[in-house]
Amino acid sequence: MPTGGPREAVAQARERVAALIHADAAEIIFTSCATESNNLALKGVAETFAMKGDHVIVSAIEHASVLETVRRMERQGKRVTVIGVDRLGRVDPESVRAALTPRTILVSIMHASNEIGTIQDIEAIGGICREAGVLLHCDAAQSASKIPVDVRVMQVDLLSLSAHKMYGPKGVGALFIRAMKPGLRRAPLLDGGGQEDGLRSGTLNVPGIIGFGAAAAIARDELGDAPFRIARLRDALQGRIETGCSGAAVNGDPARRLPDNLSVRFEGIPAASLLRALRGLAVSSGSACSSESGETSHVLAAIGLEKDAAASTLRISLGRMTSPGDVETAAKAVESAVREVRARLRGGE
Ligand SMILES: Cc1ncc(COP(=O)(O)O)c(C=O)c1O
Repeated sequence: MPTGGPREAVAQARERVAALIHADAAEIIFTSCATESNNLALKGVAETFAMKGDHVIVSAIEHASVLETVRRMERQGKRVTVIGVDRLGRVDPESVRAALTPRTILVSIMHASNEIGTIQDIEAIGGICREAGVLLHCDAAQSASKIPVDVRVMQVDLLSLSAHKMYGPKGVGALFIRAMKPGLRRAPLLDGGGQEDGLRSGTLNVPGIIGFGAAAAIARDELGDAPFRIARLRDALQGRIETGCSGAAVNGDPARRLPDNLSVRFEGIPAASLLRALRGLAVSSGSACSSESGETSHVLAAIGLEKDAAASTLRISLGRMTSPGDVETAAKAVESAVREVRARLRGGE
């Protein structure tokens, strides 16, 4: 811990968060969450570059904090192109190139999907945006801490982070803004006392920021080993489910997927019934948000799943603390829940 006061503690946290994504500390703005970071990035660029253009490009599988933001921008007169993904959830970088117009000011593509784990080729998309002179924002709330994130290699201009997605406290996030883009610093969401270089006024959440810094430092130390360990456990669980439960099929890109994500659909079984039989396990139906609303997940719809297939999707999350014993417990629980629900459905209940 730093020996000085809050100012030094925040400075150290800023260094730690920056180090996780290979940025400079001066390029980090602390916010209250990744939702705020996404809003600040999109609305900030739209306002700052209003004279240059009015068109933004996003993918169909972005988090609601991006999709709802661009919908609002559209209502206010901006033009929005939502590009689709393939069955594995991948954005084709060439479809980004094809969607660019002389009026395009921003492309916003997430690094990895919170629902199906698919990791996008941000480096290729970054190259295309750079060539076209268009800014690239990337929502890395799910990926940073789980896989390497390097803002220089990815060629992103803005990147959103969330502390609680990396075992940090809730209520704190960050936005990376490339130092070479000073114009971006002109359009805050919150006006006031000018904290965070004038871009995010309001008294800093010092305890949250210190916790975020600590979580980022631990995540950076763990990056060499944890992703591989977690992916091995996930693969073992996936193998057990695929052999033990007939009709199980995995969503997402098998070649480029977050190590902790396992999204599986169980043919003919409503995920809600499985969820009830699986209490105690870290599972949710396709997306936590859509499980509450009962609506089909927009991500599962975007990869081409019919309503029934989407409604039979379970998302199982692993973590740094998951052990082989946990995988064994989870595999047995899923197998027996699938058997139980199938028997009930056959019995006409
Ligand atoms: C990809 C992605 N972006 C943004 C968010 C929003 O993060 P926060 O809860 O910090 O606002 C989430 C949270 O689930 C997410 O998964």
